Parts: sequence; structure tokens; C-alpha cells
Amino acid sequence: MISRRALLAGVAAAAAPRLVRGAPAPASLGEAAAASGLLFGASIGQEAFDDPAYAELYRRQTRILTTDVALKFDWLRPAPDRFDFSYADAIVRFAADNDKLLRGHTLIWNDRVPDWLKRLSAPEVERVFDAHIDRVVERYAGRLHAWDVVNEPFWPMDGKPGGWRDGPWFAAMGPSYVERAFRRVRAIDKTARLALNEAQCDNDYEWGRSIRPLLRGLVERLLDAGAPVDAIGLQSHLKPQWPADYSAFAGYVAGFAERGLAVSITEFDVDDSPFPNDVAARDGAVAAVGARFLNAVLAVPAVDTVVAWQLSDRYTWYREISRRAPRPLPFDRDLQIKPLGEAMAAAFAAAPRRAPRPSR
Ligand code: G3I
Repeated sequence: MISRRALLAGVAAAAAPRLVRGAPAPASLGEAAAASGLLFGASIGQEAFDDPAYAELYRRQTRILTTDVALKFDWLRPAPDRFDFSYADAIVRFAADNDKLLRGHTLIWNDRVPDWLKRLSAPEVERVFDAHIDRVVERYAGRLHAWDVVNEPFWPMDGKPGGWRDGPWFAAMGPSYVERAFRRVRAIDKTARLALNEAQCDNDYEWGRSIRPLLRGLVERLLDAGAPVDAIGLQSHLKPQWPADYSAFAGYVAGFAERGLAVSITEFDVDDSPFPNDVAARDGAVAAVGARFLNAVLAVPAVDTVVAWQLSDRYTWYREISRRAPRPLPFDRDLQIKPLGEAMAAAFAAAPRRAPRPSR
């Protein structure tokens, strides 16, 4: 049994250049998770190609990666008649060269679509939908651990009946686009874990309260119809400024497991904006929230993957929307482990050991 102290020493050693030979294992978040049968990783983008130290942090700390923007429709399809796979291919190569699993994010999302798609008729949108799935899924078949087949199907604030997120796919096909996507992907890629990825479910703010039952209902209908859904992705961009009950959330997560689904935490980070300017106080508060969340959800054995949304505060998406330098991730801007990273390692170590799952 590895002591928590040895574990944290190992994680801290891994965050800095390894100065001590034979540092106690596990020496990284990826290894700490693996010791409990969990996969840990992070989303990855251009930053890892531009910043060698950051690439090295991915090599040391992760066992699974998720494409950040590279496989999104707007990045792959700059024009109706053009596919640009160069960025996605580079990430697929990085994952293969470094022996990392890879989640493809995301095939179908009603947000972030190019203007040219919005101008098409419904039958044209349907043709683009099928052709896009066929081309992209064929290209990467056998090379992805998982696909976020559909991202964020619900956004009640769009005012659509049933709380559906509005956008070209929904406008052309209605709710049927979800099942159509899953069936089409499975017809081509027989091995990737096919996931339905959703945001907000972790909070008890009006968004979480409304989206949770909508997602649950959709999953029931998809499974009853025999749609090939293997997993639920719960993003988990935690918002401590909103009410949340992580024990109740774990019960919600367990409901998916009862239907035989795996569950992945797909975009983990902790919004630090409600916390004090003092860095130590802020980091401590962020770590406490992360620990409470992970300890609750990792008690559910179906949760077998935790992916952070980037690894270091140097590159978090919160930089775009924060009033001060944000600190939502396990590693700081100098790529050193923070209290959140240590809390994650401790939660991974404390998690009940997972039995190996079948490949999907
Ligand atoms: O790389 C270009 C750069 O060349 C250009 O100069 C610059 C000018 O705006 O834009 C850069 O691209 C940005 C891109 O991220 C690269 O990181 C885009 O503007 C920006 O819109 C894009 O945002 C991404 C967003 O999804 C939309 O695709 C974020 O990085 C990404 O973290 C975010 O991820 C989402 C998940 O997919 C779904 N869940 C929520 C999560 C966070 O918002």
C-alpha cells in the first residue's frame, strides 16, 4: 500500500524535473489514477506543440488526451468543399508517439458551426451531417479510444421544446440527429467508446437542475431504441459560486451505471473566480472543491476516466473570461503541481480499485 505522503512526494517530484533517481511510484497523476484502475488525462491543443515544457508535462502526467478544438466541425471544415485534417492529425500522431489514448472531441455539436453551414437547406444539412461523420470517423477508426459523438445536446435557454440546444443539426433533423449520429459512427468504428457528452449536470443552479433530467431521459430513450451509446461524458467545469450537492450528483451518475454505461469526467476544472486574491487561500479553496467532487464521483465504480480541460493554468480557457489570472487546474503557470493536483492524486489513490472493463 502506497502512503499518501509517498504518493504526493512522487507527484511533486514528477511535476518538477526528476532530480532524484528512483522516486517513489506512482510518480504522476496518470500513475496515481492507474493504481486505482482509473485513466487520467487532459485536453490538448496547439500549446503543446508550441511549448516543449508543456508537451513534457503531458508526457509525464497523462495517460489519455482529448482533442481541444482540432476535431470540431468548424476547425475541420473551413469551407463546404474542404476538409483540413492537419491539426487533428498532429494530435493523433502526438498521442501515438507518446503512447497515450485519445478521445475525439467532438463530432456533432450545434454550437461553433461555420456560417456556411447555417446557410444550407435542411436536406443539404442532412447530407453534410452524414458525409462528415463518414469521412471523419473512417479516417480515425481504430485510433481513438473514444468519441464524444454528440456534445451538449441540451440548452433550455434556447427556448426549444424539450430543452434542446438549437443549431443547424437540430433545426434540420430535430432530436433524431442524436440517434442518427450514434448509429452512423458505430457502423464505421467498431471499437471506439461512443459517448454522449453534456455540461452543467454537476451544479444545482437552474442550468444543472434543468439539464440533468433532460439528459437522463434522452439516454433512456436512446438505450431503449438500441442506439449504440457506450458512455456518458460529464464535463464537470465546476462552478463553486453555484449550489451543488456532489453526493446527490454521484447518485445521478450511478443511475447511468445501472443502465450498463461507463461514465467519464471529460472536462474537469474548478472556476476560482469566487475565491480570494490571495493565491494560497484561493488554491486551497479550489483544491477543497475538487477533492469533494472527486471523492464523491469516484465512489461510483462506473466512473473510470477523469480528463482535465488542459493541464496548466498557463493555458486554461478561463484566461478568456477571467478578471485576473485564473487558477482552475492541477498545475500552475510554471507547470508546478498545485494543491488541486495533490488533492486529485489523493482522490485517485483513495478511490475503490476498478475492475478492468471490456475495451469500450
Ligand atoms: O488558435 C486561434 C488563433 O490562431 C486565433 O488567433 C485566435 C483568435 O480568436 O483564436 C484561436 O482559436 C481559439 C481556439 O479556442 C484555440 O484555442 C478560438 O478563438 C476559440 O473560440 C476556441 O475556443 C474553444 C471553445 O471550446 C470553442 O471551440 C476553447 O479553446 C475550448 O477550450 C472550448 O472547449 C469547450 C468544449 O469544447 C465544450 N465544453 C466547454 C469547453 C470550454 O468552453
